[in-house]
Amino acid sequence: SNTGLFAGQKVVVTAGPTREAVDPVRFISNRSSGKMGFALAEAFAAEGAKVVLVSGPVNMATPAGVQRVDVVSALQMHEAVFDHLPGTDVFAGCAAVADYRPGNPQQQKIKKAEQQLELTLVKNPDILAEVAALDDGPFTLGFAAETRKLAENARIKLVRKSVDMIAANLVGENRGFDMEGNALLVLWSDGETELPMQSKKSLARELIQVVAEQQVRK
Ligand code: PMT
Repeated sequence: SNTGLFAGQKVVVTAGPTREAVDPVRFISNRSSGKMGFALAEAFAAEGAKVVLVSGPVNMATPAGVQRVDVVSALQMHEAVFDHLPGTDVFAGCAAVADYRPGNPQQQKIKKAEQQLELTLVKNPDILAEVAALDDGPFTLGFAAETRKLAENARIKLVRKSVDMIAANLVGENRGFDMEGNALLVLWSDGETELPMQSKKSLARELIQVVAEQQVRK
């Protein structure tokens, strides 16, 4: 499209959870539904961007005009993001990427035996931090899912991962994950703004306005 706030731009969005295999029938994952990330991809596309949506396993329809790439694990998401990164103007990491994966996934189903079973986890690559560390990389929007101290923890992520912007949300049993609505505290190096509770679709449209404003200052 050649109209809209992001006309002529390429945007890569990640969404949903990742699944980390324990054995052929079990995995470690989280409560992400993909709603927030899909809303974001849809909002960017509606503003004229060419959007690649790298998604973990979710039950969501692909937004119109969006190129979708399905992945399962964090390692696959990492690979898909870097495959599609050349020429990207904005990277938005909305996926709830597993920080750790089982270090030794079993080829056969683990049998029930001892009273205690130990699972060793190894760290996954941090996709957002790696994209943010690139020279001449895209504008980076990360998310921060926190159960407490939202502003403080989000600002730590902004600095530690050296991303351009963090959209922070509270998550828990009844917040953030899988709900229709959400609220965001959006932070960048020298400012912040609060986007109040509303539908994820309308929140996504407001968030990309903030991205557009800060992107021109980069
Ligand atoms: O999908 P929904 O049900 O709609 O829920 C939306 C959401 C709560 C999942 C979403 O709004 C959200 O907060 N997404 C980020 C979840 C998350 O994993 O946050 P985090 O604070 O653990 O990670 C911080 C940032 O680093 C995120 O941008 C994440 O994508 C990125 N990351 C994390 C770990 C990793 N190995 N690689 C990453 O890129």
